[in-house]
Amino acid sequence: MTSAPPPADSSAAANLVIAMDGPSGAGKSSVSRAVATQLRLRYLDTGAMYRAVTWWMLEHGIDIHDPAAVAAVADRPRLAVGTDPAGPTIHVDGHDVATPIRSRAVSAAVSPVAAVPTVRTILVAMQQEIIGTGGIVVEGRDIGTVVAPHAPVKVFLTANPTIRAQRRTEELRHDPDATVALTEAELARRDAIDSSREASPLARAADATELDTTLLRLDEVVQAVLALVKDRVGVG
Ligand code: DC
Repeated sequence: MTSAPPPADSSAAANLVIAMDGPSGAGKSSVSRAVATQLRLRYLDTGAMYRAVTWWMLEHGIDIHDPAAVAAVADRPRLAVGTDPAGPTIHVDGHDVATPIRSRAVSAAVSPVAAVPTVRTILVAMQQEIIGTGGIVVEGRDIGTVVAPHAPVKVFLTANPTIRAQRRTEELRHDPDATVALTEAELARRDAIDSSREASPLARAADATELDTTLLRLDEVVQAVLALVKDRVGVG
């Protein structure tokens, strides 16, 4: 596992953990990376880790709809995660998988894999090791509830489903098959699995601040999060 922390500008920032949860397409990645850059913190995309394990399962012909088969090999993929917000990296068994983990095949398979408790136990332990003593923005679905329940700043980003689908489709513009309607249906299917699974479902932590980004530009959301950080821990 690799993670090179940039120098933080105060001891409060050096230990700060910002948990950024929410459904797909709410803007978590863009907001988290911008906030981490501004505050000179590291950045961890936990969704990329679930995607990387899913990529490995598909490469190895594992039936991703068989939770026992997935659990039996869940400790085999060797993940290496880089946490520079300017260029986060992810490798599995030495392969750079940053591009293939965004494929439609991985997107369609990731929710069932992420629902397997053994997969979650392994990845949550890795995430907690990367977080270490802090100085990091962590995005996912269960960061405020399970991975970093003591994070001093917790944000739950939401947006209406059509806006989320529009943003995701914009990211997929190289894919001629990606229409807003299709993307919206795929996001709804993934959110339903992610929210209803037994093992640490997508949920807002009781002490998280919910931010609806439907009508906000990226810079407005970033400013709102920075204001929250300043208010909570006096950093920024
Ligand atoms: O954020 P994303 O779309 O890259 O996440 C991919 C999948 O991984 C998504 O279906 C939910 C799952 N996930 C999770 O279960 N827990 C996390 N902490 C992060 C992602």
